[in-house]
Amino acid sequence: MAPLPPPGGPDWYKDAIFYQLHVKTFCDSDGDGIGDFRGLTGKLDYIRDLGVTCLWLLPMYPSPFRDDGYDIADYCSIHPGYGSMDDFRAFLDAAHVRGMRVITELVLNHTSDQHQWFKEARSSRDHPRRDWYVWSDSDDRYPGVRIIFTDTERSNWAWDPVTKQYYWHRFFSHQPDLNFENPAVREEIWNVMKFWLDVGVDGFRVDAVPYLIEREGTSCENLPETHDVLKFLRRRLDEHYTSKVLLAEANQWPEDVRHYFGDNDEFHMAFHFPLMPRMFMALRLEDRKPLVEIVERTPPIPDSCQWGIFLRNHDELTLEMVTEVERDYMYEEYARDPVARINVGIRRRLAPLLEGDRRRIELMNGLLMSLPGSPFMYYGDEIGMGDNIYLGDRNGVRTPMQWNGGWNGGFSSADPERLAQPVISNALYGYQAVNVESQRRADHSLLNWTRRLIQARKSSPVFSRGSISFLKPVNHRVLAYLRALDREQVLVVCNLASTAQAVQLDLSEQAGALPIEMFGKSVFPRIGTSPYVLTLGPYEFFWFKLRRL
Ligand code: GLC
Repeated sequence: MAPLPPPGGPDWYKDAIFYQLHVKTFCDSDGDGIGDFRGLTGKLDYIRDLGVTCLWLLPMYPSPFRDDGYDIADYCSIHPGYGSMDDFRAFLDAAHVRGMRVITELVLNHTSDQHQWFKEARSSRDHPRRDWYVWSDSDDRYPGVRIIFTDTERSNWAWDPVTKQYYWHRFFSHQPDLNFENPAVREEIWNVMKFWLDVGVDGFRVDAVPYLIEREGTSCENLPETHDVLKFLRRRLDEHYTSKVLLAEANQWPEDVRHYFGDNDEFHMAFHFPLMPRMFMALRLEDRKPLVEIVERTPPIPDSCQWGIFLRNHDELTLEMVTEVERDYMYEEYARDPVARINVGIRRRLAPLLEGDRRRIELMNGLLMSLPGSPFMYYGDEIGMGDNIYLGDRNGVRTPMQWNGGWNGGFSSADPERLAQPVISNALYGYQAVNVESQRRADHSLLNWTRRLIQARKSSPVFSRGSISFLKPVNHRVLAYLRALDREQVLVVCNLASTAQAVQLDLSEQAGALPIEMFGKSVFPRIGTSPYVLTLGPYEFFWFKLRRL
């Protein structure tokens, strides 16, 4: 019998620590140069020991890989290079036994043009499957709808020479959008969900949700009819399963993303896209303003819902949810080399973005683990992996995990030429310099530090479930906030500057409390009614548990 999913209430995702990884580039067990489920299963202890409680897998389905698997050719099987369905089941059981859950990708907006559904749909105008996609005689319908992959696509319509009509696609032209007006499409997507839920997955990261329905005269994003589709899927989920999670990828402003939680009848979680670039902006500007503004502008969400927050993922550091001036600033400061820019964003990993500066990497991770929401870590960032901006598309941030200083960084025994992606091998970020094995041995490595950070986060529920209120000291280089839940309070103080800073905090409401620094357990002077003075080194931050009398 399959092991039971790990303990936790139905809203387990609120306390979860997520880890996003690509099976393809994590660990190759059979030496064919492609990572696989057996390899990943062998690394589950590593992921558990880091403190992770839920894995998010990039698409693992058969695909022509023209969008690294987000172009799905068959929803209900495993890409043969990654192993068999039995391998997947064994992996899932092994994760569950270790107390970790697993969510997978649900790419519902579009399929690959190599999917059987599309092959049938494009075979003739009369085929019963025709209406599963969005067709038009002209390419001027829905004018003004923005193009997402600006570096590759010129239009959201592509010509089909066989049936002599255009089909609609919000992403690459080889990814035709499904037609969600058609109830059969909704039913089929539900069947796909059901299939994987019955296999035992704990939920889905649902790809590109704002674009399901098209309407003339609109941006074709966030339409009420799109929300109806999502509510339908959630209703079905609630009718048949418990303790599963739906997580929305909706790269939109907080006011718009708010609707994807609905009245607790749509998504359990959604990524907070606009927060991410503002964390980087605040750091570069040495000013808390952009970060505080976006958090304060974020509307409250239903009790059982949760934000997902992140520093980096498998895509470019998207700059869609910033103003033009902010975008120019971000490009200038974080991607002076034009090769690092792609679409509307920057294709770099965390460590190179922060110039390998350990203090800044720690500070940003400290924010990730203490701001409201559940944190999502991106594989390899826990050891400070680098990237390869010359690899094309977003592949430069998807290179093999660096396990040790040996052959192919321990990822695979294949000839290096055969690897699914080349390993990073430069002097600064190469596998000889940056790898799990050596960091495991060093007490103060980024890996071991990250493990301690996660432990500290898990030591108090204020981080996952508490409220946030910002203190606004005169020194704007210092970011300070209180996280509170019932009688428990944690004070977070961060120096965003490259120089030492002093700050006076108005903590009169906390007068009498004793701040205990959470990493070293040192007791700081008791808070009184006059301003509380702290000094912080460059990029230094503190987490204090406030102990009441
Ligand atoms: C999402 C994915 C991205 C993919 C796109 C199209 O934005 O994160 O990697 O290219 O959807 O499926």
